[in-house]
Amino acid sequence: MKVLVATQKPFSAAAVAGIREIIEASGNEFAALEKYPEQADLVAAVRDVDALIIRSDKVTAEVLDAAANLKIVVRAGAGYDNVDLEAATAHNVVVMNTPGQNANAVAELAIAMMIYMSRGQFTPATGSEIQGKTLGIQAFGNVGRLVGKKGEALGMSVMAIDPFIPAESIAQAGATPAESLEQLYSSCDFVSVHIPATPQTIGSIGYDLISKMPKGGCLVNTARKEVIDEAGLEKALEERPDLKYITDVAPGNYDALKEKFGTRIFATPKKMGAQTAEANMNAGLAAARQIVDFFETGNTRFQVNGKK
Ligand code: 3PG
Repeated sequence: MKVLVATQKPFSAAAVAGIREIIEASGNEFAALEKYPEQADLVAAVRDVDALIIRSDKVTAEVLDAAANLKIVVRAGAGYDNVDLEAATAHNVVVMNTPGQNANAVAELAIAMMIYMSRGQFTPATGSEIQGKTLGIQAFGNVGRLVGKKGEALGMSVMAIDPFIPAESIAQAGATPAESLEQLYSSCDFVSVHIPATPQTIGSIGYDLISKMPKGGCLVNTARKEVIDEAGLEKALEERPDLKYITDVAPGNYDALKEKFGTRIFATPKKMGAQTAEANMNAGLAAARQIVDFFETGNTRFQVNGKK
């Protein structure tokens, strides 16, 4: 079987070597397509592959149509909004993610972002400390939990909400369960967003929630840019000169927002939450192992799309 690692944003060389070793040791063929400039390059490269390892690379219906031999796609990471799941199911292709494997890297970035904004983006102006502040976690999955733990260790009081996790489990993990998103946003100095981009969540964080934040509030988004209603964010930042926003991947109107709001807003130039040597290794190797296991035993444990 031929396994292609297709990564517009490549893994570290060590992670690629590790993936190659796992694929070849199991008698499969390894191929890589990195930093490809056009989506057409991916479409061309999948023609003879049986398995695909990707990151935020777009596996569209066109890619699936072109990949006649494809049996499995593993998104080395958590969010799979970049894969057309329905088309994959229609093509009888199994789609998996590697949940938790890059969570620590993202959680560390969320904490770093809070400190960066509290210190005025490392300008000499008097900043503030995160110790003693309230931290709201929107979605208490692998990343959200870790952000909560790290925030607690830094002396923050942690509140969390998750539509799929009962309040008791949130409390058992040491956070105060919020009764509603309104309560979370109105109670927390920092809100850290960890929801996936789905039809239900896209554009769901807007003016109504953001403007509820207490004085000096900071919204931290290491999830997906699409979950923010950008017009609502702009309105909230305009009305409330005390609010701040930091995000891993720029909003569509970033230049205009930067011009207007200066150091109250910051966006990373390229998504970097999972871009650590450790996360590359964990997620990349997990993806390779899941593919080998799928070929050898049919294990579909991490499948995220429906079966045909
Ligand atoms: C994820 O969903 O796992 C993260 O957003 C990381 O995405 P990346 O692999 O493209 O950096």
